[in-house]
Amino acid sequence: MNYIGSKNKLSSWIKECVLKTYKEPVSDAVFCDLFAGTGAVARNFKTDVKQIIANDVEYYSYALLKNYIGNHQALVYEPLLKSLNQLKAKSGFITEHYTQQGKAERLYFTVENGQKIDAIRLQIEQWKTTNDIDEDTYFFLLATLLESADKVANTASVYGSYLKKIKTSASKTLILEPAIFKETTNKHSVFQEDANVLIKKISGDILYLDPPYNARQYGANYHLLNTIAKMDIFVPSGKTGLREYTKSNYCKKSEVTKAFEDLVANAQFQYIYLSYNNEGLMSQSEVEKIMKRYGNYRLESKNYQRFKADKTENRNHKANFTNEFLHILEKR
Ligand SMILES: C[S@@+](CC[C@H](N)C(=O)[O-])C[C@H]1O[C@@H](n2cnc3c(N)ncnc32)[C@H](O)[C@@H]1O
Repeated sequence: MNYIGSKNKLSSWIKECVLKTYKEPVSDAVFCDLFAGTGAVARNFKTDVKQIIANDVEYYSYALLKNYIGNHQALVYEPLLKSLNQLKAKSGFITEHYTQQGKAERLYFTVENGQKIDAIRLQIEQWKTTNDIDEDTYFFLLATLLESADKVANTASVYGSYLKKIKTSASKTLILEPAIFKETTNKHSVFQEDANVLIKKISGDILYLDPPYNARQYGANYHLLNTIAKMDIFVPSGKTGLREYTKSNYCKKSEVTKAFEDLVANAQFQYIYLSYNNEGLMSQSEVEKIMKRYGNYRLESKNYQRFKADKTENRNHKANFTNEFLHILEKR
């Protein structure tokens, strides 16, 4: 998934920095990805550490993490995917509010794909209700649907708005492709909580932090993924069909330093790694000042090609490269 702030392309560099600075064997470590999003970083550590704790405040992310991190033993899914891919089209909430068929004519999906999403989502829920699938399979199927629906969304990558005409990738018929997870013998934990609340209830060895760095709220930008994942009924608001969404303190200039310091102070982890870039709401020196109050600090940085929303939005960006920082703290 092309996700704002995704560390997919940076995850090897992050791992390199962690392995260079963490002094104990990582195979014995509890690694927490507290703002995990798509789980790119946690996924890259999953087979190396003793246990992963993954968390994100958004439900769509929780569903992805329950699959990519929580699932650790092989599942038999081929017959289920085959049956879901062959379902008869069925209009439901997505078709009605997020395709041209609805009154608001929101062009997020073609009518065909909207109907496929509705039919598949309903069937997954019915299998869960009748106990035909267990929780692991439920989240595997949900993650599979979220990833496959995102591939055919008619957006400039995020769901803050839709395109006026159906683009080529969105005109393709949705086909479920398995959201494959790595198998491990060890179990992992997944949460959907505010980071500052969860931090007081967990402990471990390596804490990786990748909070939002600017004012763009994830709940607004990915509202449709929450709507598909939650399958709840509400009145979509305005032109874009927005739902109510969680507003993060990390997206507010007036709150972010307080929230960040509270997190570092309460963290029961010896090593903390924070990804942040040079265009964030907190300056590099503000982060440094806060972290230095709690132990030994060092900084790694890398020149990195920024998130590409799409070609249209990209025209507004002057430069395509940004400095990505990894702030490292060994807590006293
Ligand atoms: C920069 S993204 C993380 C990207 C992730 N590392 C990846 O590679 O996909 C920040 C994430 O923090 C989550 N988030 C924002 N505020 C949060 C909070 N207060 N507690 C927990 N998660 C939060 C967002 O939903 C978003 O997924």
